[in-house]
Amino acid sequence: MYSSILTSAAFALALVLQANAHAMPSPALGVSGLSTRSDVQRPSTSAPCGSVNIASTLDTSTAVPADSDGSVTFNFTNFNSGADGSRSVSVEVDPTGTGKKFVTAEVTTNGDAAPTNVGSQPITLSLPAGTKCSGGKEANLCLLSVKSTSGFGGCAVVSQLNTSGSESSVAAPAAQSTTSATSAAASASTKSCNKRRALGTRAPRALRRSLHENPVFAGTMH
Ligand SMILES: *[C@@H]1O[C@H](CO)[C@@H](O)[C@H](O)[C@H]1NC(C)=O
Ligand SMILES: *[C@@H]1O[C@H](CO)[C@@H](O)[C@H](O)[C@H]1NC(C)=O
Repeated sequence: MYSSILTSAAFALALVLQANAHAMPSPALGVSGLSTRSDVQRPSTSAPCGSVNIASTLDTSTAVPADSDGSVTFNFTNFNSGADGSRSVSVEVDPTGTGKKFVTAEVTTNGDAAPTNVGSQPITLSLPAGTKCSGGKEANLCLLSVKSTSGFGGCAVVSQLNTSGSESSVAAPAAQSTTSATSAAASASTKSCNKRRALGTRAPRALRRSLHENPVFAGTMH
């Protein structure tokens, strides 16, 4: 009898602790605005983002930008203090953004394992060398799965700059060559007109030139 009461009490206490032990990245996958207590997930190998649907939220979630050196800094927010609200995390990254190809990322600046307060703490990690984020419709997103030492967390989206630079370097010469082609055609037609004028005297030539440049007379002069 006593033992079953104790067991129930222990079970109830465990539930209470579980309900209080909350921490996660902010911004996070599938969370609009800052993360709140009810957004917290329990990332696992089979569900790296908990119950959040990755495919339907990847493109619409606020992304944290990656630096050109591959470092990423995001906030990890705890909603209770102590070990249960640990801000010490491990991070996995999926460059495909599908949630199926996670590899370990090195955390270079971690958070407190037993914070005395609640709030946000910046965590910095390094994407593995050569990581190419290819997720999302712009093909530039990585997915992070972040898990605290107490088992709570969630996913976050990282955006990588498109460094190919092909768009601007191709666009400028293309516009230039269009322009020079147009002016080449213009000067060619001027030359052919000048030839026809070669027989005239100076004054009529000047007159013809101004008439020639008038679209109404351009046709009649030829
Ligand atoms: C982290 O939180 C601080 C304080 O709220 C904020 O200024 C900063 O922009 C946040 N960083 C990111 C990457 O969201
Ligand atoms: C980078 O930009 C180029 C040119 O706009 C585009 O073709 C390519 O798909 C982009 N790559 C990524 C990863 O966004």
